[in-house]
Amino acid sequence: MSDFLDTVNFRHACKLFDEAKTVPDSVFDEILEAGRLSPSSFGLEPWHFLVIKDPAVKEALRAACWDQVQITSCSHLVVLLARKPHHFQAGSPYLDKSFSRRAATPEKLRYIHAKFEKFTKSEMRPDLLNWAKMQTYIVCAQMMLSAAALGVDTCAIEGFNFTKLTETLSKSVPAFNQNDFEVSCCITFGYRVNEQTPHLRLTREEVATFVG
Ligand SMILES: Cc1cc2nc3c(=O)[nH]c(=O)nc-3n(C[C@H](O)[C@H](O)[C@H](O)COP(=O)(O)O)c2cc1C
Repeated sequence: MSDFLDTVNFRHACKLFDEAKTVPDSVFDEILEAGRLSPSSFGLEPWHFLVIKDPAVKEALRAACWDQVQITSCSHLVVLLARKPHHFQAGSPYLDKSFSRRAATPEKLRYIHAKFEKFTKSEMRPDLLNWAKMQTYIVCAQMMLSAAALGVDTCAIEGFNFTKLTETLSKSVPAFNQNDFEVSCCITFGYRVNEQTPHLRLTREEVATFVG
């Protein structure tokens, strides 16, 4: 088996973290870097990450997250935020900033803007908030796998009450900018207490069809 598949198999939904163990800053920096380098549609990086280590804040958020113990037992809790749609309207400073990085000439910049506008008006992507949230799941996978490569356990957390989590974040995390971002999903990081459970998966035949 390749080293990469070993990493894939190491990752599992860790249900309880060892509260006595903290992910070292140097290790977490690498995980964060893997998240930052995630690919995104049109290279727009429609996300922001809240990295929460404060036990009191984690405790407050746990109630909004179905009272799941991962929230308080983890070393680091990351809330993945999705950028709100006004950033993706024609002429927005965010679009200009993002596209000008990859356009060598004014013609190229106009071309990317026009292409993006066509994309946002296409039937495929009418819901820009949902589209931005979908991108955050790429970050989620990339951070969880990079953590696994570094021997760090994770659990993605979608089990939360959106309204309650948003309210709690707005009260306990001043950096949470609700005008520009909305909660998408969370990831907990730490070190396992229990042995990992086996991966229960459909067979290859059930999930893949080879054509040609
Ligand atoms: C987006 C996402 C959200 C999830 N939310 C939760 C959650 O709130 N609580 C939890 O215990 N597990 C959560 N999980 C873990 C899944 O239940 C788990 O990945 C799945 O059952 C397969 O198990 P494995 O990851 O251990 O192979 C989530 C997984 C994903 C990908």
